[in-house]
Amino acid sequence: MSQASPQGGKEAVAMCHPAVGRRDRHQCVLFAFSLVLWKTSFYFLFLILPGEPEFKYIGNMHGNEAVGRELLIFLAQYLCNEYQKGNETVVNLIHNTRIHIMPSLNPDGFEKAASQPGELQDWFVGRSNAQGIDLNWNFPDLDRIVYINEKEGSPNNHLLKNLKKIVDQNAKLAPETKAVIHWIMDIPFVLSANLHGGDLVANYPYDETRSGSAHEYSSCPDDAIFQSVAQVYSSFNSVMSDPNRPPCRKNDDDSSFVEGTTNGGAWYSVPGGMQDFNYLSSNCFEITVELSCEKFPPEETLKSYWKDNKNSLISYLEQIHRGVKGFVQDLQGNPIANATISVEGIDHDVDFELESFSERKEEEKQELMEWWKMMSET
Ligand SMILES: *[C@@H]1O[C@H](CO)[C@@H](O)[C@H](O)[C@H]1NC(C)=O
Ligand SMILES: *[C@@H]1O[C@H](CO)[C@@H](O)[C@H](O)[C@H]1NC(C)=O
Ligand SMILES: [Zn+2]
Repeated sequence: MSQASPQGGKEAVAMCHPAVGRRDRHQCVLFAFSLVLWKTSFYFLFLILPGEPEFKYIGNMHGNEAVGRELLIFLAQYLCNEYQKGNETVVNLIHNTRIHIMPSLNPDGFEKAASQPGELQDWFVGRSNAQGIDLNWNFPDLDRIVYINEKEGSPNNHLLKNLKKIVDQNAKLAPETKAVIHWIMDIPFVLSANLHGGDLVANYPYDETRSGSAHEYSSCPDDAIFQSVAQVYSSFNSVMSDPNRPPCRKNDDDSSFVEGTTNGGAWYSVPGGMQDFNYLSSNCFEITVELSCEKFPPEETLKSYWKDNKNSLISYLEQIHRGVKGFVQDLQGNPIANATISVEGIDHDVDFELESFSERKEEEKQELMEWWKMMSET
């Protein structure tokens, strides 16, 4: 498939027949939405039973970084095909995980980049959305809040709790950014990766440095598990993890890279990124994967990128089943409102705000009681 198009999405849907009721555990159900964002945008969602952790892959946030977009369509097709063949690994994964796949967060930028004439694509054309906004620098800067809170012993998580309305009214936020914020706030995602291009590395939080300096290792409270899952991604991609790989460009500073992984701040500070926003506004652990030195490589190379990344994409997804999980309920099975789950030694709690609980349907209540905590030593 040369270009990821909404038609590409439909092909994948057709392959995944029969699409039956969402509660049927034994069918692979794949939906393609065009509603989440406007226009040509789309994403895939494998929907299964409650009690399963939610995972997401997002690609093409920078419209001119096309590899992630293509890989996610390959991935959706691969999961469907292997599921239908009865591949045990894939069947288990789909039965036990809700997998959301959004190949393009920035379809407008992609169209712009793709319509450039000639072989060599410009480094910047199509990076931003149609309004000229760079989406990965457009999220509310929660790092600044948490860095102050760290000193004061104030909240270390769910920092957007009372700010949702302010976000909606903020004219500086792009529609794509707002849509993703709502997505992150509405679904209790556990693990996620944001696929970029232009380098080769798996990057983990924090992206923004504490001191404001351009390069500084900026560990978050869950540094150990983040290092570990980033390592899983890179270790299955032999090009990415090769310690002797020359930098993408002669003058690139890769000194923070460790076997294909890096702390975000140690590489270079990014305020307002999506990765840190996930972690600080919800309990979703997101890494940022740079897939290729070239941002918009020739079509005939896409298959080799898929080969390099297939096992990484699957293995990273499987990491969602590490850690601890449970339901917040009393001995009678009734929900407990406003619970906090804390892990000793890790200053990043899982919070429940169940104010609207009474209005929920029974099956939704069950889902709302679930919690997960990614951990490195389980
Ligand atoms: C099943 O899928 C896994 C995960 O991608 C893969 O490693 C394995 O080779 C597949 N098994 C077969 C028999 O194709
Ligand atoms: C839970 O917290 C919300 C918001 O802080 C509050 O409105 C609600 O009354 C709390 N519920 C209980 C049962 O304490
Ligand atoms: Zn990028």
